[in-house]
Amino acid sequence: MLPKILVVDDDRHTRILLDRLLAKTATVSLATDGAEARQLFAADDFNLVLMDQRLPDVNGIALLREFRASRPQLVSMLMTGFADVRDAVAAVREGLFDYQTKPFEDLEALEAVIGKALELDRAYREIDGLRARLLTVADQPVVIGQSAAMARALGQIRQVAGLDTTVLLEGESGTGKDLAAKLIHALSPRADKPFLEVNCGGLPESLLESLLFGYEKGAFTGAGQANAGYFEKAHEGNLFLDEIADMSPKLQSSLLRVLQDHSFTRIGSTQQRKADFRLICATNRPLLAEVKAGRFREDLYYRIAVVSVRMPPLRERAGDIVPLAAHFLDHYSAKFAKVCGPFTPAAVQGLENCRWEGNVRQLQHCIERAVALHVGGAIDSLHLFPACEQAVRTQLADTVSAALLRYQDARADFEREYLRRLLVAAGGNVSEAARLSGIPRQNFYVRMKRWGFVAD
Ligand SMILES: Nc1ncnc2c1ncn2[C@@H]1O[C@H](COP(=O)(O)OP(=O)(O)OP(=O)(O)O)[C@@H](O)[C@H]1O
Ligand SMILES: [Mg+2]
Repeated sequence: MLPKILVVDDDRHTRILLDRLLAKTATVSLATDGAEARQLFAADDFNLVLMDQRLPDVNGIALLREFRASRPQLVSMLMTGFADVRDAVAAVREGLFDYQTKPFEDLEALEAVIGKALELDRAYREIDGLRARLLTVADQPVVIGQSAAMARALGQIRQVAGLDTTVLLEGESGTGKDLAAKLIHALSPRADKPFLEVNCGGLPESLLESLLFGYEKGAFTGAGQANAGYFEKAHEGNLFLDEIADMSPKLQSSLLRVLQDHSFTRIGSTQQRKADFRLICATNRPLLAEVKAGRFREDLYYRIAVVSVRMPPLRERAGDIVPLAAHFLDHYSAKFAKVCGPFTPAAVQGLENCRWEGNVRQLQHCIERAVALHVGGAIDSLHLFPACEQAVRTQLADTVSAALLRYQDARADFEREYLRRLLVAAGGNVSEAARLSGIPRQNFYVRMKRWGFVAD
């Protein structure tokens, strides 16, 4: 397959020239401004980006920076006028592959440089592939995710794992941030060094401070002996700060200082110690919103969100639900020594229709409970969503006894069956079932009560 090159330039002649020059060796996409470039970049996996420095709507260097935030190993070149060379040189230090001055004088030389850039991209990808393969044999957490949304997040994780940059994992509760942090550790060159994890929301400020910084003997009441903190214990490894948004303002500024000069002191000591850990942070509240609300330091935000990865909620990756369910079914069947499965079609439908507000964790618990209570064999929607069980029992009893000849009975039967299906579709959530039905809420509850789906 030909490599893909994105050319961003507002000058038509440059676009035509590059398109002609590269058409034989690459698939070329052309953008005339920043907005178009962003769109193309988001939709495709480019091997190289050739960027004009002066675009009508954005500075080319800033745009490349933005692209690299989501793909740190992106290979890119800047095309610049003589007047702007100084900025371009600075950009090369930031990780730009090269810059070319316009108008291009030597097209052969230009082609050669582009060839080198593509080689570099190939090498990056090969290393990523090798690392991924190496780690499938190593002790690595199992991460299920075939959907496009998850593939994107995993791609970012894989790329960033090998670098020493700080990573911010954002996502709703239960989307797999913890798991992602462990994966980053397992895929990083620091994998055989410590991985330490602390939940910033779960501890009082003073305790969290002594846990992170460590303390000397007698530093405070109860400090009977000196203790190294996580900054020290995570030496050469990864430190994972979960629920970072909950960190107190005081600790936020202490952490910022540590990140600025990679050194710190234990509580009760003046001895500077070196902090060689890579930081991974997670939050289930969008951190930028916390910054805007004045609850999180902006400078700290930019320190820790060098690369930020969003773990998509399950409703944005419906394609992952069944594979995840199958994975958990396997796991818990083995754990509880039972032969459970497969899922019946109704179970699959119920799984796919459920809203999973609690994301993967809720799905995991749902399967765990079903397997734990199961005698073995196929798993039906009723095993997964027991709220509907009562409903079906009532319905079965009735259909056996009644000869549904009268219109009234037939309508009642329909309504019961309809409500039952609705409940299954809503994953047992009555309010959600009401919403799906479009029946006014009060009326809906009356009907649910009538057929014994909810208690009085
Ligand atoms: N893609 C996945 N493949 C397999 N298991 C997963 C996946 N995502 C999450 N899990 C599992 O789901 C559970 C919840 O995930 P995790 O604890 O990582 O979520 P979280 O985003 O950290 O949640 P919280 O914000 O509540 O801390 C864990 O048991 C985890 O192993
Ligand atoms: Mg977590």
